[in-house]
Amino acid sequence: KAEAKAEAKTVLPTPSLDLAVRPRRNRKSEWARRLVRENVLTTDDLIWPLFVVDGHNKRSAVSSMPGVDRLSVDQAVRDAERAMQLNIPCIALFPYTEASLRDEHGSEAVNPENLVCQSVRAIKNEFPNLGVLCDVALDPFTSHGHDGLIEDGKILNDETVAVLVRQALVQAEAGCDIIAPSDMMDGRVGAIREALDAAGFVDVQIMAYAAKYASAFYGPFRDAIGSAKTLTGDKRTYQMDSANSDEALREVELDIAEGADMVMVKPGMPYLDIVRRVKDTFAMPTFVYQVSGEYAMIAAASNNGWIDGERAMMESLVGFKRAGADGILTYFAAQAAEKLKAGG
Ligand code: PBG
Repeated sequence: KAEAKAEAKTVLPTPSLDLAVRPRRNRKSEWARRLVRENVLTTDDLIWPLFVVDGHNKRSAVSSMPGVDRLSVDQAVRDAERAMQLNIPCIALFPYTEASLRDEHGSEAVNPENLVCQSVRAIKNEFPNLGVLCDVALDPFTSHGHDGLIEDGKILNDETVAVLVRQALVQAEAGCDIIAPSDMMDGRVGAIREALDAAGFVDVQIMAYAAKYASAFYGPFRDAIGSAKTLTGDKRTYQMDSANSDEALREVELDIAEGADMVMVKPGMPYLDIVRRVKDTFAMPTFVYQVSGEYAMIAAASNNGWIDGERAMMESLVGFKRAGADGILTYFAAQAAEKLKAGG
C-alpha cells in the first residue's frame, strides 16, 4: 500500500514552473498590497443621505433599511454633527411628508417652511461648514407618488419644470449648497440654473441626477419617504431604461450643457459600466448613488449572517472608486467613515 502511494507521487510530480512573472509577489503581505493599491476610499468621497420627519427628539426606524432612521429636525442636526466629526463633507436631505400635506400638485415642495427647508436652516445655522445637498423632485410631496405633475395619466414635462424651479429656489433661500434634481424631466437643469442665477444664487451648485434609471432598487427609499403605497404605476416615462448605455451619455451631455457642475449615475452597483463611460467621456466630477435597495441587500444578508456586512460595504464602495466615481451617496457613509477612522 505504501509502495502504491509512493508510486502515485512519482507519477504526479510537483510541476516546476519556470515563471518570470508571478503576480502573487505583489500580494504577499499587507504592506506590499498597500504599496501597489490603485484606488483608495476616503471620507472625502462620501455624501450621507438623511431622512427627515416631523416631530421632536424622534428617530423612527425604516423597516426595509436596517440601521437607517427617519429623523426629526433636531436629530438631523445631531447626525449633521456626527458627519462633521467623521469628516464627511456633505449630507443629503429627504423628507417624509405627512399624508395630509401631500396633494396632486406637490404644493408642499415649494413651501419655504417645509421639512427640508427647516432642516437646511437648522443644520447650516449650527454647521455652516458642512455641505448640504437637497433633492429636487415632487415625489415626497405628491399624493400619487410621481416626481412630476400628472394630467390624463401623463407626467407633464414643462409644467413640472416650472414647479421644480420654485422648489430649488426655496431650498437655495434656506441655505442649501447643492441642488440635486432627481426628477428626470427634460430641461430642468438649465431652467434651475437660470433661476438660481437670476435670484443671485450664483454659487449654489447643481448636481444633476443625469443618468437615473427606472429601478427596482428604489423600493426601500419609497418606504422611507412614505410614497411606496401611494405610487401608481411606474416611472418609466421619465427614468431611463436599464438596458441603455449610450442614452446615459446623451443625458449627461445635456445636463452638462445646461450648467450641471457635477453629474450622477444612479443606482450604483448594477451600473458601474455607466459610471466608467461617463467619467471617461466627460471628465466631469462624477458621482454615484448606492441606493436604498443596494443598502438593504447588504444589510439584510449581513444580518442573516450570510455575508460579512462590513467587508461587503467597503468592497462595494471601493468598487465605485475603481469605476471612476469621485464621490458616493451612500446610507453606509457614517459606518464607512467610522471604519476608515479606525484604520480601514
Ligand atoms: C426621488 C428620488 C428617489 C431616490 C432619490 N430621489 C426615488 C425615485 O426616483 O423613485 C431613490 C434613492 C434610493 O433608493 O436610495 N425622485
